[in-house]
Amino acid sequence: MAVKKAWVWGSGTAVLLSIIAGKLLQRRAGHGKDALPGAPDQRGYGLITGASSGIGAAFARRLAQDGYNLVLVARREERLAALAGELTQAYGITAEVLPADLTQAADVTRVEQRIANLKLSLLINNAGFGTNQGSLLASNLDEQIDMLNLHVLATMRLCRAALPGMTARGSGAIINVSSISAFFPLPGDINYPASKAYLDTFSQALQAEVARQGIRVQALCPGFTRTEFHDTEAMTGFQKSRIPAIMWMTSEQVVEDSLRCLGRDQVICVPGWRNQLLVLGSQNGLAGLILRVARRIRHRG
Ligand SMILES: NC(=O)c1ccc[n+]([C@@H]2O[C@H](COP(=O)([O-])OP(=O)(O)OC[C@H]3O[C@@H](n4cnc5c(N)ncnc54)[C@H](OP(=O)(O)O)[C@@H]3O)[C@@H](O)[C@H]2O)c1
Repeated sequence: MAVKKAWVWGSGTAVLLSIIAGKLLQRRAGHGKDALPGAPDQRGYGLITGASSGIGAAFARRLAQDGYNLVLVARREERLAALAGELTQAYGITAEVLPADLTQAADVTRVEQRIANLKLSLLINNAGFGTNQGSLLASNLDEQIDMLNLHVLATMRLCRAALPGMTARGSGAIINVSSISAFFPLPGDINYPASKAYLDTFSQALQAEVARQGIRVQALCPGFTRTEFHDTEAMTGFQKSRIPAIMWMTSEQVVEDSLRCLGRDQVICVPGWRNQLLVLGSQNGLAGLILRVARRIRHRG
């Protein structure tokens, strides 16, 4: 009985502290310096992978507004071309289309080569996908390998390709799009959270290596975001309606929070106070409770 009471009090206090901390984090996030590298009239280039939809397309629109020339990377060339046309017309920038399947080593090499010849101020490694096939044993091995190639190897290689130019110029920023799932090692689609956890650790360690060269690195960890992510073939069967409406953010909100984090040199960036509360909860006594609820959401129905 005494143990149960202590647990209830402990959990209650943890929730309260999480709410206060979340609010403070949110308030502080609003007071950033100019987040984007380069003077506004000399922004240079931004290269965005996964720019054909969702968060990547939102980054492209935001950076174009801010005067960046862009290189847009993804597989669906016609989507990229339409976005490039829209942004060139609206903002007078240069927007280049670079079609590539980043699960393929040869395509990653082509993107690396483009980076080597570019005055790259901002690299956004955003391309990614999830699967909804259940356990590792039940999953399609080729698709799991593709996921690791895309999330882990392509990101690592493009970061490495960007470093010589950024180091020589003494400035630049890299945003690696991770996920809040990195904090929640749930069963089912286990390579998704595992590969995103790699991105968090990789980004933190890389930031420590390159801070003195004037380069900023971020691991952006969105929660549920309204994009095409949950509508792909690999996610067939995922029921978005099971996720409470309050948990969803828009791509634009995620991008704004990411840029605020960049202005504050915050490496691990969790957009939205609800997601920040979940992460805080995962790091204290509420981890078990959150994981149980998440498992029920995943397996219900
Ligand atoms: N939406 C969410 O709830 C959520 C939550 C946390 C994290 N994220 C992360 O956010 C990032 C962006 O996803 P999103 O939500 O914006 O989903 P999305 O709308 O499905 O966009 C994914 C992008 O990745 C590209 N892509 C996928 N496979 C690729 C490949 N093999 N080679 C090159 N590009 C590829 C897609 O373009 P093509 O199909 O044209 O190649 C598309 O542009 C992902 O890394 C995802 O893990 C999303």
